[in-house]
Amino acid sequence: MSDVEALRKELAAAIDAAAGLDELEQIRVSALGKKGRITELMKGLGAMDADARKATGQALNALKSEIAQALEAKKSSFADAELNARLVGETVDVTLPARPEAEGRIHPISQTIDEVVAIFGEMGLSVAEGPDIEDDWHNFTALNIPPDHPARQEHDTFYLPGAGEEDRMVLRTHTSPVQIRTMMAGEPPFRMIVPGRTYRCDYDATHSPMFHQVEALVVDENTHMGHLKGCLIDFCRAFFDVDDLPVRFRPSYFPFTEPSAEVDIGCVRKDGEFRIGHGDDWLEILGCGMVNPKVLENCNIDSTKYQGFAFGIGIERLAMLKYGIPDLRTFYESDLRWLRHYGFSALSAPSMVGGL
Ligand code: DAH
Repeated sequence: MSDVEALRKELAAAIDAAAGLDELEQIRVSALGKKGRITELMKGLGAMDADARKATGQALNALKSEIAQALEAKKSSFADAELNARLVGETVDVTLPARPEAEGRIHPISQTIDEVVAIFGEMGLSVAEGPDIEDDWHNFTALNIPPDHPARQEHDTFYLPGAGEEDRMVLRTHTSPVQIRTMMAGEPPFRMIVPGRTYRCDYDATHSPMFHQVEALVVDENTHMGHLKGCLIDFCRAFFDVDDLPVRFRPSYFPFTEPSAEVDIGCVRKDGEFRIGHGDDWLEILGCGMVNPKVLENCNIDSTKYQGFAFGIGIERLAMLKYGIPDLRTFYESDLRWLRHYGFSALSAPSMVGGL
């Protein structure tokens, strides 16, 4: 038997018997590495006469690729075996009953979003989503905030590096760009809410560089301010669970709505007490308005035929008010004691029927 043939048999047997990835790697280095046995044999080719060099060269090349293939095949059989062992080891019996003593809690932000979705879902609005990284046009220009508009300064925008003024990317400063994406992608009527993350360069007890909003957009042929008011009054009363909660609409300004309003709810602030409900004080909770016809036109929607309303709510603010959480920064500290105190049971998903 030739040297090459003997080596082939020896290596094939070693690969076959290998017990793990480490051992395979050792075999690979000892055969095909810089100082490996096949490599060394190849170095000897130069000293052979022409005929022997040709025959031995061909045999060595064939051996080299055969061994490389055998190593690969064995390697993937180890990977398959590992995966199978993991699948067996991690089997979960999904028919087991839930364990009420389980430690996990639903974060108040998730809970609040679920509550808001449950209320507006009942009114017939569906949930839409959009990207956290937006282009300047969707985040500003299409919403009637052109490049030199003063409203841009108020947004403390995080700009992403690269690209010029016009086509630069930003971390979205509000969920309003999803209004634009929804209207560009479909045909009216639209009835949707957009819960999601938003970003502004700001940080103190009531501001965080990442926070959450819920946007709403309703567009149809006969949508009017009465619909907006009814929708928001019902929402505030359901969310805070106060049937006769006073709700007031105060004129305001947003570039993307005309007319625009801010919504205040009634509250009591007396001797250190703070309570939501009938009282002699007001608390601002959201911005809203009738969609500016310019925004509809930017999305190729005929503003003589369609009108709509929109609003935007800060989720953290809602959660802080409803659940008495004093500092916004604690939402993101991942402190388990905080979560056990303020979190919610995973077994009681909010719904209008079951309760919020
Ligand atoms: N985008 C506004 C913000 O982030 C909130 C807002 C106000 C959204 C009025 C709206 C609206 O859709 O109509 O401050």
